[in-house]
Amino acid sequence: MRRYVIAGNWKMNFTPSQATAFINEIKPMVEGKDNCDIVFCAPYVTIAAAMEAAKGSNIKIGAENVHFEAKGAYTGEVSAEMLKEIGVEYVIIGHSERRQYFGETDETVNKRTKAALAAGMKVLLCLGEVKEQRLAGITKEIVSMQTKLDLAGISAEDMKNVIIAYEPVWAIGTGLTATPEQADETCGQIREALAEIYGAEVAEATIIQYGGSMNEKNAAELLAKTNVDGGLIGGASLVAEKFTAIVDAAQ
Ligand code: 13P
Repeated sequence: MRRYVIAGNWKMNFTPSQATAFINEIKPMVEGKDNCDIVFCAPYVTIAAAMEAAKGSNIKIGAENVHFEAKGAYTGEVSAEMLKEIGVEYVIIGHSERRQYFGETDETVNKRTKAALAAGMKVLLCLGEVKEQRLAGITKEIVSMQTKLDLAGISAEDMKNVIIAYEPVWAIGTGLTATPEQADETCGQIREALAEIYGAEVAEATIIQYGGSMNEKNAAELLAKTNVDGGLIGGASLVAEKFTAIVDAAQ
């Protein structure tokens, strides 16, 4: 019932010309693989070139963040209206690297999510526990709290445009992956939190991705789990063969 969403997060990689070359390489490799939505989220300056290259294919291009204000004195930020005008449909919000290095909080994540939804975009909302929290046995409490704070004031109707990316921070860029059982369990706990807020129907309909060193080797096992509806992929989204293998695992 839930459709797989396989999304790449390029992070601070790929200039416009590099993105064009990459999309041209991967386009024929994922052609016709329509059992999942395929998205690459790109640095702001790379979005237009990537979109141009992806035209007419089954690949969509998104952004990696968006500001919550409509316009004004926010040096270095980009508004939802700006992204909409160039045709951006998906945006990552709340990535742990934003929270860790750029001071984002559940409050700013919530505000950015509201702004993106108001502009009609689909949000890939990232959350997940750090290593100490997992070791302390409080993962469920952490992801439940983040889910509730990040989605505060967001309607059930708007949840149609929210995808949650469960990304255990200890698994990001480390080569460590949550086991399929851990991923399934924690995505299930996020679903429970959604049920508390919105009821069972919305919880069952919401797409929850796993992110954190998902690759061509572990994707099939992770995606086979009931509560895992896709992947948000960093490193392996920069290599056409690896990303294609993950798309294949979702077929
Ligand atoms: P890696 O796949 O490189 O661990 O990155 C995961 C991630 O942060 C996706 O947003």
